[in-house]
Amino acid sequence: MAELIDGRSAAGEVVARVKALVAGLSAQGKTRPGLAVVIVGEDPASQVYVASKSRTAKECGFHSVQHTLSAETGEADLLKLIGDLNADPAIHGILVQLPLPRHIDAGKIIQAIAPHKDVDGFNFINVGKLGTGELATAFVPCTPAGSMLLIERVRGKDLSGLSAVVVGRSNIVGKPMANLLLAANCTVTIAHSRTRDLPALARTADILVAAVGRPEMVRGDWIKPGATVIDVGINRIAAPGKGEGKSRLVGDVAYAEAEKVAGAITPVPGGVGPMTIAMLMANTVASAFLAGGLERPVF
Ligand code: GUN
Repeated sequence: MAELIDGRSAAGEVVARVKALVAGLSAQGKTRPGLAVVIVGEDPASQVYVASKSRTAKECGFHSVQHTLSAETGEADLLKLIGDLNADPAIHGILVQLPLPRHIDAGKIIQAIAPHKDVDGFNFINVGKLGTGELATAFVPCTPAGSMLLIERVRGKDLSGLSAVVVGRSNIVGKPMANLLLAANCTVTIAHSRTRDLPALARTADILVAAVGRPEMVRGDWIKPGATVIDVGINRIAAPGKGEGKSRLVGDVAYAEAEKVAGAITPVPGGVGPMTIAMLMANTVASAFLAGGLERPVF
């Protein structure tokens, strides 16, 4: 049976470290970290994620601000808000929850966030730093950064020569994940919907990351015995067995099959999910350290 990689416990350790760093900032008379979370519209899943981000920020001792805007908010108004947050010295991190309503150009909004407050790591400056291996000064997207910490718990920091397959090529997870694995000396392949014989490719992976958003797509016989499996998917599916209208969360990996083959695997829920929020706190406290002229903490 595979080792279960406990994301809740790992995230708890990151949050505890963030709290200690916040106390250190306060002891030195520095501004406490400020995080602004912006949500546009009523997408229920986004509302749950955003509430969780704001709650954890408060728990960390941050100055936590949430801007909840109606689905009809215009692009110009959102750009104005970003401009105000960029100029506000009490704010060190700005996160605009995606997806945005169709009438707003998400790319334009993301690029309007000042790179030194871009704790999501989506701005071209941070994407470019990650792509060129400038990890020491980049903000790395939270889900891949958290996934790397979970991989390091099992495999250590140097992944030299290991074969890694990332299934999914999104800008939020797949591409930055591949860059992080490359920086850790893995041999990396990115697979996607046009990849030929995906099961055979997946079976070559010492580290398999699934980030496609398709419930239980990765089957047990896609997994190399002993592999480290990171399941980024959070999919809500019907669960009629639990009662009418009930649902449950599953990942992109068929867990019951995979745990029989993998060496270590993240569960859903309780794997990568909690790490995403913890790394947002880590990026925000790092931003506050830099704003205070201090050396950036490493997680
Ligand atoms: N929507 C889904 N994941 C993310 C994320 O990591 N950041 C933002 N801003 N929106 C998301």
